[in-house]
Amino acid sequence: METLQPHPDLHPLIAQRRSSRLMEPQRPVEPWKIQLLLEAARSAPSSNNLQPWRYLIFDERNPEALQKARECLTPGNQKWANCAPVLILAVAEEIRPDGRHNPKAFHDLGTANENLILQAIALGLNVRPMGGFDAEKACRMFNIPSGYTPVIMLAIGYPAKNLEGISEDILEKERSPRLRLPLSSIAFLGIWEQPLPQSEMAPSSLRDSPTPPAP
Ligand SMILES: Cc1cc2nc3c(=O)[nH]c(=O)nc-3n(C[C@H](O)[C@H](O)[C@H](O)COP(=O)(O)O)c2cc1C
Repeated sequence: METLQPHPDLHPLIAQRRSSRLMEPQRPVEPWKIQLLLEAARSAPSSNNLQPWRYLIFDERNPEALQKARECLTPGNQKWANCAPVLILAVAEEIRPDGRHNPKAFHDLGTANENLILQAIALGLNVRPMGGFDAEKACRMFNIPSGYTPVIMLAIGYPAKNLEGISEDILEKERSPRLRLPLSSIAFLGIWEQPLPQSEMAPSSLRDSPTPPAP
């Protein structure tokens, strides 16, 4: 593993994203922003355009449901995620409307989630995904029908301004370096484990504008 230094030619949204746990508890997220996150999610590509993503939103508009969603989290996640004013449960539709299994449902939900996360970063929000929650409990509590699988809970909020009261172990985790496998162990050329030659940096025209012009 190596410490992640975002490549200088990455799109700033991708370079800036990180899963911070530090959320401002008293600052709600505006409903129109939450709606925009969901618009970003539903714009994602999906296998056969089946769109196997479903979202349950928990925020101050229904405090009882928000409390129940918090109770589904593992104690380790509750420690920091109880500060998040919004939780979103991302659910995969594993069984297609025609009764067949959709083997790409988890992939497509993940794609939609990353759209949602990047849109949140663009709006100045923090997002941290959590696999640490009780999915069966969530199904019972929120009437999630069979064929639908809760996959991930997303904690969302504005970045915390005041770090007083946040425990030292959480702050330490936030400060720890972000580790990644090197590119050479995740990408090959043509045949498994055939090294991919290192390319030149991006052309200077692309460096000036990270978004390529429309064709
Ligand atoms: C599917 C998934 C499950 C995760 N589960 C948890 C979790 O339960 N608790 C937590 O604090 N972080 C969780 N994370 C966050 C990861 O630990 C984090 O994305 C990873 O360390 C990389 O850090 P970065 O997102 O800041 O680049 C999860 C992330 C993903 C994608």
